[in-house]
Amino acid sequence: MKVSSNQIFNFNAGPAMLPSTVMQTAQEEFLNYKNSGMSVMEMSHRGGHFQEILDKALVNIRKLLQIPESYEVIFCSGGATAQFSSIPLNLLDEDDSAAYSLTGVWSVKAYQEAKKFYPRVVSIFDGKESNFSEIPNLRDSDIPSDAKYIYITSNNTIYGTRYSQFPNLKTPLIADMTSDILSRELDVGKFGVIFAGAQKNIGPSGLNICIIRKDLLQNRKSPTPVILDWQVTAKAGSLYNTPPTYSIYMAGLVFEWLLDLGGLSAIEKINEKKASILYETLDETDFYQTFVPKANRSMMNVVFHLKDTKLDSKFVEESESYGLVGLKGYRDVGGMRASIYNAMPLEGVESLINFLKDFEKKWG
Ligand SMILES: Cc1ncc(COP(=O)(O)O)c(C=O)c1O
Repeated sequence: MKVSSNQIFNFNAGPAMLPSTVMQTAQEEFLNYKNSGMSVMEMSHRGGHFQEILDKALVNIRKLLQIPESYEVIFCSGGATAQFSSIPLNLLDEDDSAAYSLTGVWSVKAYQEAKKFYPRVVSIFDGKESNFSEIPNLRDSDIPSDAKYIYITSNNTIYGTRYSQFPNLKTPLIADMTSDILSRELDVGKFGVIFAGAQKNIGPSGLNICIIRKDLLQNRKSPTPVILDWQVTAKAGSLYNTPPTYSIYMAGLVFEWLLDLGGLSAIEKINEKKASILYETLDETDFYQTFVPKANRSMMNVVFHLKDTKLDSKFVEESESYGLVGLKGYRDVGGMRASIYNAMPLEGVESLINFLKDFEKKWG
């Protein structure tokens, strides 16, 4: 049975669903933003309306993550991938080294990009042999003394793993938080740089947000391409060139939604509940299988397999007619993946659980 004739629950990994109240506000304001007679999409990024939107978004993300004054926050474009280049090109000089922890495709891509420019960059953990189900317990002694930074992916979107806790390290910790930013409480002070593509927990794709400890914004000897240069973006208040204005507006609405909900402690409780009831259902039977060790399980991307893989296409087909879309797993991993970011309501997960039980009854 479909959830309702016009409602679906969207489990896509990203771009992903946005909170319905945010979408409604955007719809109401779409043609005529605050009596300006224009859509936000049509406004100058140098005008008063947009400046207000930008300022408010910056204040609110600082509030949500309790970002200390010693950190700069900038909005950049080019998605999270742009930061794979920006990080080494802002933090390293010619003969410098950095350490990468490879817990999935996205950290491998970031590592390869850094290595292209800086051959002394090293990997200190490679999860490939465990099919990326492992998360290392990083300690200072694992990190080469000459590494300028240590790079991690906090949540591995494809494999459904995450760092449940973040290490306290002497070397600046750089984290790609694309798929779990704003999903749990966070001590920003543990990190040198945090960055995230917007398309999961923040807003539309293309935008990314960088939170950078100010002492890391030093002058390098080698030049940085201007569009990737954090200092240039920071000095210009994220307005060096035309930023992705509509995405910033949507991000601002999402930040307000989260603050109204009670901030990160409130959303973390909701996320814990959603993930725990879903994992419990999967663990109750061997009709479904989860290969990720419990300690490493992601709260955002729940990856599971059907024991009988011949049923995979039937599962996807029947889930879609039930109103549950986007459950097919990543192509290299197979199986299923339910992405349950902040905007996925509890009812969406409950509906998935009902479907999982019905499907097992029918085919188990
Ligand atoms: C953890 C992580 N990092 C980076 C990326 C790449 O993001 P983008 O497509 O915005 O470059 C993704 C994409 O889903 C991701 O999940």
